[in-house]
Amino acid sequence: MTDLTQLQQQAEAELAAAQDESALEAWRIKYLGRKGLIPAAVRQIGSLPPEARAEYGKAVNRLKQSIQQAYEQRREALKEASLAAELEAVGFDVTLPGRRPQVGRLHPISRTLRRIYRIFGDMGFQIYTARDVETDEFNFQLLNFPKGHPAREMQDTFHTTLPDVLLRTHTSPGQIRAMRDYYPEPIRVILPGKCYRYEQVTARSEMMFFQVEGLAVGHDITFADLKGTLQAFAEQLFGAGRRLRFRCSHFPFTEPSAEVDIDCILCGGKGCRVCKYTGWLEILGCGMVHPNVLRNGGYDPDVYSGYAFGMGPERIAMLLHGIDDIRYFYANDARFLPQFA
Ligand code: PHE
Repeated sequence: MTDLTQLQQQAEAELAAAQDESALEAWRIKYLGRKGLIPAAVRQIGSLPPEARAEYGKAVNRLKQSIQQAYEQRREALKEASLAAELEAVGFDVTLPGRRPQVGRLHPISRTLRRIYRIFGDMGFQIYTARDVETDEFNFQLLNFPKGHPAREMQDTFHTTLPDVLLRTHTSPGQIRAMRDYYPEPIRVILPGKCYRYEQVTARSEMMFFQVEGLAVGHDITFADLKGTLQAFAEQLFGAGRRLRFRCSHFPFTEPSAEVDIDCILCGGKGCRVCKYTGWLEILGCGMVHPNVLRNGGYDPDVYSGYAFGMGPERIAMLLHGIDDIRYFYANDARFLPQFA
């Protein structure tokens, strides 16, 4: 009959000496394997006289359980030790969370454009995109700026090496392109896109910027339609109850022309730094399409009328977000851009 106490001591001592996985496995086969010492001790029950079986059976089962438990513990301990050793050797912790890839965001101007598109889209305007590289004819002449006209001075631009091919200074040449495309249908479009001006870059002016032009042409379109459309637009973008002010102005391609202000969204009209203590913020230029321009687009001004407006999304985004310098938009500064979610 096996001496169980001795067997236990021996098994425990050898287990404590097993320092790696293969030593542990050899130990397991020796003690717990099918032909191992513990099962052999268990099998001895059958060869004992019946009166001795119960006591020995209990003892050998207790031994088997305790050895099995000791084995599990040792296996866990060795696994942890080997992970710790690996970490030590490799020098980094594989259980640390990884670096999150940065989630891209839309540029604040793209977001502003989308808001503008949605508002005019809901009012039945289509988006019509025209070209950035224009001719002198479309950018100026067909819009009533003949060569040498003083109004050109406000819109100096970048010229290409081709004569009279330039970067457009405003989206208004798209009016002519849309009219020539749509004639003789009525038109209700907005024309978004980049514009370029050769001028000093300051907090208030960039040499590249966006505009969103609006154009409606049809029968019996009046200045009242223009006012109603812009009032609805301003209320949806800047909030209900917004007041609009139309100031007489001049553009060669609209007659009459106006500049439109909203009551200051910061002070509500009381006067503050943002509105320069006037209570008003200028948001766009507009007017009734000049008869010459209608004619240049193919529409007879005795039959058709229309209105047009043009706004700067950068200026609108600056007002909406309280941004005080237009240069942030295109400076590609990763601290600025992600702030607009
Ligand atoms: N094109 C004008 C500008 O850039 C804005 C404008 C558009 C004015 C349409 C009237 C009508 O200043």
